[in-house]
Amino acid sequence: MADGAVNLTIDGMPVSAPPGTLLIEAAKQAGVLVPHYCYHPGLPVAGLCRMCLVEVEKAPKLQIACATQVAEGMVVHTQSAQAKSARMGVLELLLINHPLDCPICDQAGECELQDFTFQEGRPATRYSPDYAKRFNPVEDFGPDVLYVPNRCILCTRCVRFMEDVTKEPVLNVSERGDRAFIGIHPEARLDHPWAGNVVDLCPVGSLLSKDFLHKARAWELDKTASVCTGCSQGCNVTLDTRDNVVVRVRPRPNLLVNRYFICDHGRMNYRWMNRGDRIEAPLVKRAGAELQAVDWDEALERTAGLLRGAGGRAVTLASPRMSTEALFLMRELCAGLDWTGAVQIVMGEEAPLAGVPNLALRPERAPNGTAAELLGYGRDYAAALQAAESAAVVLVLDEPEVTIRTAGALIYLGTVLPEGARDAAVVLPIANVAEEEGTFVNRDGRVQRYFQAKPAPGMARPAWWVLAELLTALGREGGESLTGPGAAFDRLARSVGPFAGLSYASLGAAGQAITPAIGATA
Ligand code: SF4
Ligand code: SF4
Ligand code: FES
Repeated sequence: MADGAVNLTIDGMPVSAPPGTLLIEAAKQAGVLVPHYCYHPGLPVAGLCRMCLVEVEKAPKLQIACATQVAEGMVVHTQSAQAKSARMGVLELLLINHPLDCPICDQAGECELQDFTFQEGRPATRYSPDYAKRFNPVEDFGPDVLYVPNRCILCTRCVRFMEDVTKEPVLNVSERGDRAFIGIHPEARLDHPWAGNVVDLCPVGSLLSKDFLHKARAWELDKTASVCTGCSQGCNVTLDTRDNVVVRVRPRPNLLVNRYFICDHGRMNYRWMNRGDRIEAPLVKRAGAELQAVDWDEALERTAGLLRGAGGRAVTLASPRMSTEALFLMRELCAGLDWTGAVQIVMGEEAPLAGVPNLALRPERAPNGTAAELLGYGRDYAAALQAAESAAVVLVLDEPEVTIRTAGALIYLGTVLPEGARDAAVVLPIANVAEEEGTFVNRDGRVQRYFQAKPAPGMARPAWWVLAELLTALGREGGESLTGPGAAFDRLARSVGPFAGLSYASLGAAGQAITPAIGATA
């Protein structure tokens, strides 16, 4: 037991928690999920819905677990007959006016009203079939939010998020009693840059994303842990895929980076992951001919030949959306040459989330500019483009907007082939972030892993694989030992100072900060 901790018993299990811990959080330690609606760890406690009623021995009546703090010797029963009967009553009242339209509701399958009703609600209603349920029309709240009042259980999570987290209190509870609904200021729209979080926070299907409306049923989705590519903040996200198409991006909690939230820019920044105009096979240019599809062996041999023959200056133009491992292996590939590397970073407006320190949509609209800088890539893209004109070899790492003029040989590793790169001697198709595994380093120097959500199209392979094969083809030491992004990262950690002491396995779900933590820039 930790020093100063409070010891209590929840459903017969001993629990030790710091003073001030709420019962609902202490119960999680014992593996007990106390049913709840209005409580959310990222919002101030409201104690409104009464769904979290539990029995505490020696207390005169049931207590709400979301607003009761742990106390020494407390004995809590979440499953006693009295607690369950009270929660059944709460559910019955919450459902009085509910339209029971689960078959057409986007939330079905991930709805806490469904889950807790199934778990401990009444098997049937006691209301007469003639009872006329309250009806209010659907409202358009903002660019990506619809409000379906008939499904609303008035938990006020959305109201509290706008008031306490965004500090833009445009939502309220209008009317009272069974006429109550969530109102929006008549002159306001729910268009705050972080407003989309209300859809995730709503425990039922009352606030819906227009972007996701009727796109998929929750049980059809595969979920993959990833990191947002929208800016240098590095928010943790889940990519939801249906039939190998990314259909939704949602926040993944990381208390050290984004707490429970993501901004709307990041939420909508996924359609490019599903582009249909991808390069699906390696291409090489034969004398006097257009680019022609070949197998990987021929393409790698041709690329290695170009690199073997290159002496003098090599220029790499890289996307700041490339993984740390690819940026590192590209640098390794150019070892021995007079190498210049540069990334092009699009800048935008900063949009902070006022209620959460150090969380904002950052001006730097790229996830891995920090890693690029640590690995020696510069930001003077114009100068690198100019240097490319006279370079012996130019290597491009997925820059879809690039136009390159060069006297040397152009080697293009990319997801799509821009017009400006059609003169390439070799084109090697690579996976995008949703199709591979790797790491990004955010603006604060936190190294975070992302995972593969869907297969790469055709013969496209992850960039780390292509670069490792090229190192092997060139006979570079240890090329064949690069069996995965983890091996590439571990090699990087051994050779690049700021990453010293880290390993791929130690990054875990929340990532690790490089030491010493670097100062944030953009
Ligand atoms: S719309 Fe959703 S989050 Fe807002 S009060 Fe209703 S149920 Fe709660
Ligand atoms: S703040 Fe940046 S990293 Fe976070 S969700 Fe928005 S765009 Fe993505
Ligand atoms: S979750 Fe405790 S009162 Fe709503």
